[in-house]
Amino acid sequence: MLSLSPTLQTKLSTPLTIGTVQVNSRVLQSPLSGVTDLVFRRLVRRYAPSSMLYTEMVQASEIHHLQELPRVMEVDPQEHPISIQLFDCRPDFMAEAARKAVAQGADTIDINMGCPVNKITKKGGGSSLLRQPEVAAEIVKTVVEAVPIPVTVKTRIGWDDQEINILDFARRLEDAGAQMLTLHGRTRAQGYTGQARWEWIAKVKEILSIPVIANGDIFSVESAVRCLMETGADGVMCSRGTLGYPFLVGEIDYFLKTGQLLPQPSLDERLQCAKEHLQGLWEYKGQRGIYQSRKHMTWYVKGFPGAGELRDQLSRITSVEEGYFLLDSVLI
Ligand SMILES: Cc1cc2nc3c(=O)[nH]c(=O)nc-3n(C[C@H](O)[C@H](O)[C@H](O)COP(=O)(O)O)c2cc1C
Repeated sequence: MLSLSPTLQTKLSTPLTIGTVQVNSRVLQSPLSGVTDLVFRRLVRRYAPSSMLYTEMVQASEIHHLQELPRVMEVDPQEHPISIQLFDCRPDFMAEAARKAVAQGADTIDINMGCPVNKITKKGGGSSLLRQPEVAAEIVKTVVEAVPIPVTVKTRIGWDDQEINILDFARRLEDAGAQMLTLHGRTRAQGYTGQARWEWIAKVKEILSIPVIANGDIFSVESAVRCLMETGADGVMCSRGTLGYPFLVGEIDYFLKTGQLLPQPSLDERLQCAKEHLQGLWEYKGQRGIYQSRKHMTWYVKGFPGAGELRDQLSRITSVEEGYFLLDSVLI
């Protein structure tokens, strides 16, 4: 049977303190580019009323050149606590973007130092900052000085197996003023392959005073509990496990607070949720939202009976009605 030790249960049922911000949950919904827009976050929030949510990452230098802020920085007054995630390698642009994020209503600013995508690392952002620790620390320091809210960082354990420098890197970020570190237990070279190496999260937790959040391969309540026990981390962040399953953060949160497992959502509930997601994307983004919904819809039905063909059809929908028709066909 799944259970937490009484000490761990006590710790994990107390609020998470991120500098001046208190969050009444130790489970966080990660930033996911192309996924964690306002529509998705609303669904996560329904099941996880107090967890920290994150926007998709936003490039600071892009904001600098725009007249209007991009929609990814839009925050619903109902969805606090929320962090706006920024990336770039220029401290001045990051400070400017962070001030705009505060005006948007962000509760914290998160700095992305983990993205492995070439397009971003080539410009010196995301995980490439692991190779430029001085610049990374300078970014944190500059942003901390620019805004009155906590600044946090999300990163990986190193560039590749030859360069696992997270211990030194994490210390520098803390010294520069970061108020929380989320650590994805993979190197940049690993991308999303192989296993997350939680042992590195445990090592980082031992040397930092700020909260350390474990990330990587949290796909269930069971894996979250195992990760918390193995790492001693202050919380867990869910990522791919929430694709087509916005219930996950709430399920883990409920277990950490009560020691009880919530009943899994029924097939019908999952389909209703998919429909709401589709409708929401249509209302929020119009036809572009329908195109974006295709991947979400295929994730929702993963593992359902006859999912292969259904996924294929869902990946080509052009309207809400078409999506509803296909989703309803699951229950017939
Ligand atoms: C589709 C997708 C988009 C992502 N976008 C972001 C992002 O915008 N910012 C970020 O810090 N990490 C991003 N990540 C990384 C995740 O937040 C997370 O660190 C990673 O998936 C590891 O956790 P997991 O093994 O539970 O999926 C993204 C990952 C995926 C799969």
